[in-house]
Amino acid sequence: MIERQLATDTIEKVGERVTIMGWVHARRNMGKVAFLDMRDRTGILQVVVVPGELDDDASREIVADIRPEYVLKIEGEVQARGAKQINDKMATGTVEILAKKIEILNTAETPPFELDRDTSAVTEEARLAYRYLDLRTERMTKNMRMRGKVFQFIREYLTGSDFTEIETPILTKGTPEGAREYIVPSRLYNGKFYVLPQAPQQFKQLLMTAGIEKYFQMAKCFRDEDQRGDRQPEFTQMDLEMSFVDREDVMTLIESMLIEVVNKLYPEKKIQQVPFPRISYKEAMDKYGNDRPDFRKNPEDPNELAFGWVIDFPFFEKDDEGSWTFTHNPFSSAMPEFANDLAKKENIENIIASQYDVILNGFEIGGGSIRNHKPEALKAVLEILGNDAEQMDEQFGHILKAFEFGAPPHGGIALGMDRVMAILQNEPNIREVMAFPKDGHAKDLMMRAPSPLSKKALREANIEVLSEEE
Ligand code: AMO
Repeated sequence: MIERQLATDTIEKVGERVTIMGWVHARRNMGKVAFLDMRDRTGILQVVVVPGELDDDASREIVADIRPEYVLKIEGEVQARGAKQINDKMATGTVEILAKKIEILNTAETPPFELDRDTSAVTEEARLAYRYLDLRTERMTKNMRMRGKVFQFIREYLTGSDFTEIETPILTKGTPEGAREYIVPSRLYNGKFYVLPQAPQQFKQLLMTAGIEKYFQMAKCFRDEDQRGDRQPEFTQMDLEMSFVDREDVMTLIESMLIEVVNKLYPEKKIQQVPFPRISYKEAMDKYGNDRPDFRKNPEDPNELAFGWVIDFPFFEKDDEGSWTFTHNPFSSAMPEFANDLAKKENIENIIASQYDVILNGFEIGGGSIRNHKPEALKAVLEILGNDAEQMDEQFGHILKAFEFGAPPHGGIALGMDRVMAILQNEPNIREVMAFPKDGHAKDLMMRAPSPLSKKALREANIEVLSEEE
């Protein structure tokens, strides 16, 4: 077993000899004395290296070599700092370590940018190519740790309410939910393809048919869309579905959960209005000109959180060719007062969907709906969308069939967790809260993906590349 004290634990250990391990955050020389700021996952700790205080020559000999980002093992004595030396800005500012023994566990090249300061102003190209270094910085470490905490809190909150976390397939079949999909060629069945899910939508509805009743998943989703600050080709949803519920049940659950997340993990933040205000799609468009209005009173205040719900979306709209298309997805039900219109395929332009979107500070952070659980209702939607019997069977046969076996009424929602985290961490875009995001051109600059495949791999997948782009 390796014996090791974490930086922040040393404040309780004044007078004791401890062993710390971590990275050299910064080094300052004052004559013969060297000050090392040592960093580990808990923070920074000052180590004073006085050659005469070191136990052995081996330690003395390496002092001159030590540079930022070297990985060191240091044994030393925890000393209380004098009143004048106390640093209120450091969690460990009341103590320092007087080094007795130093061992270099690994050396380090000079990093391409400085890691002891915020990297917001460093080019994104450098930050993403050296993401493992960028993540060493204080702000990025905090973002990762808080993301982990929020995810854990949500998992506990939902499992505590009798939800079951279930993973659904990544290799699946295309589902028309609006976005372009990533395709994966099948080696065993040449000319056939899997598709990466843009959301677990159909699987979660099939889980309701399976009698699970309360499902959730921290789900990876994939969409081949144009990139923006709040969009990535690969992102994470807190995806959830429940049986025997109406719109109010889902909205109340999500609202309570979001309030708890803020109260427990972000006590410094204020939620502007509880219950979250609701606005109809029409009113939002008339008043704010968009469907994710920013309700903040003071957008400059980093601690202000203005949640809200947008409801009463039109179910259908005309596409460029004049055909009906859905505004969100084809699985939603119509609001009860429009169920008849939907069944008869009448009054189509006025049908209101059961869709609800949750918004925060001007971003859409989630959306969901109550679904059509009867095959006839889903069929009516698909017919309005212009599918003939054959297309319906090809694309939706499995779910229409499943609904014939006693599918319960159900509904759910998905939160875009990257957007939630970016706002909670006061970050300007979702890349700042993702460990290894793609850049603005959908490239992974560190792994260098996408990348060409060998001729052999292409042949095996029965793929011929028609034109290659640099
Ligand atoms: P929707 O498509 O609205 O609904 O997605 C839900 C939420 O996911 C987030 N989101 C994204 N985040 C980052 N990058 C992207 N490319 C991206 N696309 C979407 C948004 C959005 O509100 N299956 C339905 C949910 C349901 O009905 O239950 C769905 O996926 O915050």
